[in-house]
Amino acid sequence: MRNIVYSTQLKHDLALTISECEHDRIFLLVDENTETHCLPLIISFFSLKEATIIRIPAGEKNKNVNALTHIWSALSNGCATRHSLLISLGGGTVTDVGDFAASTFKRGINFINIPTTLLGMVDASVGGKNGIDFNGLKNEVGTFAQPRFTLIHTPFLQTLPYSELLSGFAEMLKHALLDKEQTWSDILTFDIDKPDLTQLQRMVETSVRIKEKFVDSDPHEKGIRKALNFGHTFGHAFEAFSNGKLLHGHAVAHGMVCALYLSALKTGFPTERMHQTVSFIREHYGRPAIYCDDYEQLYALMLHDKKNKGDNIMLTLLAGFGDIKTNQTPSKEEIFEALDFAREG
Ligand code: GLY
Repeated sequence: MRNIVYSTQLKHDLALTISECEHDRIFLLVDENTETHCLPLIISFFSLKEATIIRIPAGEKNKNVNALTHIWSALSNGCATRHSLLISLGGGTVTDVGDFAASTFKRGINFINIPTTLLGMVDASVGGKNGIDFNGLKNEVGTFAQPRFTLIHTPFLQTLPYSELLSGFAEMLKHALLDKEQTWSDILTFDIDKPDLTQLQRMVETSVRIKEKFVDSDPHEKGIRKALNFGHTFGHAFEAFSNGKLLHGHAVAHGMVCALYLSALKTGFPTERMHQTVSFIREHYGRPAIYCDDYEQLYALMLHDKKNKGDNIMLTLLAGFGDIKTNQTPSKEEIFEALDFAREG
């Protein structure tokens, strides 16, 4: 059985995946939002009848050491053993912190992800990287550990707020840029304001398969998996700088504007395609709320990126759709130029 399941019958598929993971106890992690909106849809499943619920507060600001220790305590107080199973039901915060807790509790227990947001489906719940934010920095502490299964059930998207839908759509745009022109054009022509969920479901599967291809060939991000960081070095700096105001995908969308600008400048990405993509991003995500005086602080945040070596900021850029150039080292002046472009270009 593949470890990503596109589930139309969640009750059946969850029972099947749980039965594939040998376990003594089951713990089910939710946040305030998924407890209200998603848990009622699954709690009556027979496969979950003995599950112990663990709750954490919602939102990226809670992807921290307090949530992590809360989960470890709940597992420990609930007599979890190395043979227990943790199921995370939620968006990127829940699966990132839940997977980190599971991958470290008693040196690692099995875990299953059930993403409930678009960002969770196409990005956070797939790929094996997990972690928490720490010391004002994104994903500063975490592990690489693969979920036994990820169950992608797109009907959860029916109740997702528009800003959250856009957040996930930015990662889908990134995957399309890393793939081919047709995938990119499918994203730019899709009506995300009035989404057709059947079409979106097909696009989610395409998007996840693009990500899986990079993860499978380089699970620990030593080489080509760095492609998936396109727009993220700028994006994480925007996100950290916004102090929780900017959703991850919106920050990445602004980050991709900078990365596309540098791709056109330095690695030959076609200028017209760059402008088309940037127009699409500006139409849906606006522009980043930054001023020239903020550049030094943004640059300092970028210097903390895990992909850097020494004092060089290492970016992934593109020479074309799917033509990936990792380990690019633009100068500080070029990075400031890209910030100028994002702000007012
Ligand atoms: N969990 C997100 C990733 O591995 O990329």
